[in-house]
Amino acid sequence: MTETKGSRIPGFYRLPVEERRRELRVRADLSPDDMGTLERGGLDVATADRVVENAVGVYALPLGVGLNFVVNGRDYLVPMAVEEPSVIAAASNAARMVREGGGFTADADDPIMTAQVEVMGVDDPAAAKLRLEAASGELLNLAHATLPRLADRGGGARALEVRTLPGRVILHVHIDCRNAMGANLVNTVAEALADRVARLAGGRSGLRILTNLCDRRRVRVAARVPARALANGEFDGAAVRDGIVAASRFAEDDPYRAATHNKGIMNGVDAVVIATGNDWRGVEAGAHAYAAASGRYRPLATWRSEGGDLVGQLEMPMAVGTVGGTLHVHAGARLAQRLLGVTDANTLGTIIASAGLASNLAALRALASEGIQRGHMSLHKRSSSLGAWEGPKPPAMGSAEQSSATPARSAPPTLEGRS
Ligand code: MEV
Repeated sequence: MTETKGSRIPGFYRLPVEERRRELRVRADLSPDDMGTLERGGLDVATADRVVENAVGVYALPLGVGLNFVVNGRDYLVPMAVEEPSVIAAASNAARMVREGGGFTADADDPIMTAQVEVMGVDDPAAAKLRLEAASGELLNLAHATLPRLADRGGGARALEVRTLPGRVILHVHIDCRNAMGANLVNTVAEALADRVARLAGGRSGLRILTNLCDRRRVRVAARVPARALANGEFDGAAVRDGIVAASRFAEDDPYRAATHNKGIMNGVDAVVIATGNDWRGVEAGAHAYAAASGRYRPLATWRSEGGDLVGQLEMPMAVGTVGGTLHVHAGARLAQRLLGVTDANTLGTIIASAGLASNLAALRALASEGIQRGHMSLHKRSSSLGAWEGPKPPAMGSAEQSSATPARSAPPTLEGRS
């Protein structure tokens, strides 16, 4: 390998683990300590004991690198922590196809999280709403004063919104959390405002907590793939493109399919969210609530044919941070962020969403051509050959299975991020 920059590393999957690490060390300027972190997983038992209660050990997951990612013109080595075989290979392979169309283009909203302050037992919610709206200056000042350090970093409370339900008033406080995921900041504000809000609304204070439906903190990512890049074995690129568009329409028409479609997106999203030390339960909750926000559960990503190319779009909430939380304690999460070379939460969010769109593309391409099992099961076989997982018996797999001469380094024909 002569190139030392970028995320395109032909033949990476064929290298032994040690050589892959050497390759990363050069490309991401990793230190000997970082190499130790990769070996140990980034969290020791003593630290785990400070993080959770009743700790008895640490729980490991495979950490891999998604290759070929170009997002807004920049190359990224994408850390992915996931136990499911084929997710990293599939995302890398799809990112290579998207790269042929110029890479992912993405943008993110300001990092706004929302506190919910509930007031119960309100006789006249409509009148309470008016009183709260009239006091918005005072309430915003109070919220802002609760977070002086966030204000120093350019964040803080931005806007209020009052919603009513029968017998209840809910005040939303929208807070710019800058590079933090923001749960602690937002919950602090919710609790600080609760008594005053209850008095103004004329009821008793109820719940005070963030909403994970952070629909003001969305990311959008788009990808354009030339049809020829989609060809798969006997399936030509145009046929695969049309199959992917048909699969997208199926998900748009059918919530049962949309759930599986979105699961394929979350394969990529969660793997990066976990690797970078973020709260994947929060991201999952936001994703599915957003998917259902129209009253009908819908796919987070859709695909169309445009000028012969395949064009995909994904939009979803993305509550992730590059400071705080697990990053204080988890050397593996800090290393993953350094590998990405990202320090702001918005850029991290766009890369995570790109991994989601790549995973979706890979799944739909396989489903629209040879089916998912061939490539999936050849990788699956590697872990079951270790006795690690006794899953379903693979179907007849022909050449994919036979090509696994060296299980630890075998490559399936369609999913691996090979050159
Ligand atoms: C498997 O982890 C994910 C898929 O089911 C996604 C999809 O069906 O689109 C393959």
